[in-house]
Amino acid sequence: MNSAVLVANEIRKSYGHGSSRFDALKGVSLRILEGESIAIVGKSGSGKSTLMHLLALLDDPDGGQILVEGSDAKTLSAREINRLRNQDFGFVFQQFFLTPNATVLDNVVLPLKIAGVGPKERNARGMAALEQLELADKAKSKAINLSGGQKQRVVIARALVNNPKVIFADEPTGNLDTATGAVVEDILFALNKEKGITLIIVTHDIELAARCDRRFFIRDGVEETTTNVEGVTS
Ligand SMILES: Nc1ncnc2c1ncn2[C@@H]1O[C@H](COP(=O)(O)OP(=O)(O)OP(=O)(O)O)[C@@H](O)[C@H]1O
Ligand SMILES: [Mg+2]
Repeated sequence: MNSAVLVANEIRKSYGHGSSRFDALKGVSLRILEGESIAIVGKSGSGKSTLMHLLALLDDPDGGQILVEGSDAKTLSAREINRLRNQDFGFVFQQFFLTPNATVLDNVVLPLKIAGVGPKERNARGMAALEQLELADKAKSKAINLSGGQKQRVVIARALVNNPKVIFADEPTGNLDTATGAVVEDILFALNKEKGITLIIVTHDIELAARCDRRFFIRDGVEETTTNVEGVTS
């Protein structure tokens, strides 16, 4: 059996204080296995992005525990967490988070720059990632001048450039038309199948969720059900 890359044990997260406190996650447990694809599905406001941010160590839970390859995230130093986020995790979010006036290549190599990789290797790896996404001809273009689908592919190239173990995708096709969304989906699933990258996808899209090995349904901050490939509920 594959080992767990990430485990959430009874995690809780609240926003605000006092009478304006909102409990976004009310004790959620989830094991993510190496190499699997899992969809986190639920209505708007159900806590999907909150759960993903906690799993990606972008935010801390108020209660419960996150284990990264068996280690309690609380025991990791800030340096180790930064290394994980920068080198083991790739992020594909709906809002792109590209630097608009920087070139496509500069956007893609940013994680390598942060990791201290020198310019020559950085650019070679950045171009290799752009080639994979069929965007090499746009390397010198400003990110702002790309179409939505091209931007999303740049975001995937950036997420890939460090050979991550896990890709976190929050509504990766939410801003795209159906055809472009399908291309982006195919790229993500090819990375999962061919490179064994673990895929964690937050989505409203039932068809996208159906392509994943498992679906984790969340409602009002609690798990509803999980279904596996055969549609079996656990
Ligand atoms: N920074 C914040 N301050 C206060 N409340 C927040 C904050 N972030 C999220 N929330 C609340 O927590 C709940 C869960 O938010 P979250 O972003 O995880 O939902 P979601 O399932 O990703 O929704 P969507 O599908 O609309 O993206 C929502 O009710 C939201 O209003
Ligand atoms: Mg969200």
